[in-house]
Amino acid sequence: MTLRPGDVNLASQADMARIGSAPYDYLEMLRREAPVWWNPPPPENKLANPCVGFWVLSRYADVDAASKDPQRFSAWENSVLWVDVKQTPANLEMQRAGLLGMDPPQHTQHRRLLQPGFTPRRVAALEPFLAAQAEQVIDELAARDRAEFVFEVAAELPMILLCQMMGVPQEQRREYLRIANDIANVEFNPNFETSMFELYVFLDTLVKSRGDADDDTMLSKYTHGEVDGRALTPDEITQFFITLSIAGHETTRNTTAHFVRLMDEHPDQKALLLDDLDNRLPNAIEEVLRHSPPVMQFCRTATTDIELHGVTIPKGDKVYLSYVSANRDEDVFDDPNRFDITRANASSHLAFGAGPHFCLGAAVARTQLRILLGELYRRLPDISLAEPYTPTGSVWFNAITAMPVLTCPHAAGRGSEDPAAAAS
Ligand code: HEM
Repeated sequence: MTLRPGDVNLASQADMARIGSAPYDYLEMLRREAPVWWNPPPPENKLANPCVGFWVLSRYADVDAASKDPQRFSAWENSVLWVDVKQTPANLEMQRAGLLGMDPPQHTQHRRLLQPGFTPRRVAALEPFLAAQAEQVIDELAARDRAEFVFEVAAELPMILLCQMMGVPQEQRREYLRIANDIANVEFNPNFETSMFELYVFLDTLVKSRGDADDDTMLSKYTHGEVDGRALTPDEITQFFITLSIAGHETTRNTTAHFVRLMDEHPDQKALLLDDLDNRLPNAIEEVLRHSPPVMQFCRTATTDIELHGVTIPKGDKVYLSYVSANRDEDVFDDPNRFDITRANASSHLAFGAGPHFCLGAAVARTQLRILLGELYRRLPDISLAEPYTPTGSVWFNAITAMPVLTCPHAAGRGSEDPAAAAS
């Protein structure tokens, strides 16, 4: 069937679930035929903050340019999610207290506070800790024939690291993951308000239990930090915690899962990787981020009427930046649907965004992906999918909810419910 603009609603979870992956074909058609396209509110529109529609930018050059132009494409004017928070002033104020919802110069000041935790030196210093933890995660996997990869394996290292960086005791990791996940799951969690309350309580208890501790953790940097000669407000501290709690694990977890999925779907690329694991792994990770970015989009709001490709985006309208589409733009990437771990310009992808909000955790994410996936493919090179994975059907994350794996091909049947299969 030939796709036409409007055939898919990018704000509709029903459409995402129907397609079963990011809507690559639809976005390819938009890039070609309607590079600035008005996406109306979805029929279901059930979220507490409704979607009022947005303009979709699908070409690499436009997503890149808008991300780097906060004066015209503001993160502060309205939510950077696809929903509208202008109608609920308290929610708008809350979003403006967070790094993702600020524009320069306020954004620059807040980012400066966190930047020291993410310098190349600090990231390199984390490597021995990450290597030891990755070994343990893979030890536990190797002891089993079959596992659910997304939450039992891929979620582990990002959460261990997040706890370490934030100052959350490791014993509370599982509880923290559950709450953080319930918050990230804004589209499907019927008890979102309760989850937010749980996060507030978790943070409050954490801050109280740490007392005046002034250490290297990001929580300490934020609670003791100053912006413009004043201490940070409770809302700013909470928003910072929410941002990191979502950004720091959901993304890396899904990239790890996509990596294993893509290797399973492309045995030729997997053979190439295993042939020279240490040298090919970094570019293979970039290619996974390009081909299947875990974050599909963030939004901005037009601060003035903007003319683009013959279309006027009116002041105040929301603009959707499609990283998924930018990463498959044929003007930048040859044969963009092909998964090729030797692609020379794979790292030019926009999976981490661009401009002032470029992912603060990009180096941390790349380092932990390299360490975990290196350990995984050195120890369990035959890991394979046991059955089809379950896509989440989110309009925000290109995510996988569950992905059962076999740790080696001989494990087929073992660990399953069927004793006959296990004996064969
Ligand atoms: C593969 C993993 C990751 C991907 C694909 C990713 C992607 C992104 C994207 C697309 C943005 C928003 C860009 C924008 O609005 O223009 C972002 C922002 C951010 N990310 Fe990541 N992220 C990843 C991992 C991480 C990790 C591990 C951390 C922290 C430990 C992190 C922390 C942040 C923060 C704090 C921001 C807000 C930056 C700002 O507004 O200035 N991210 N990330």
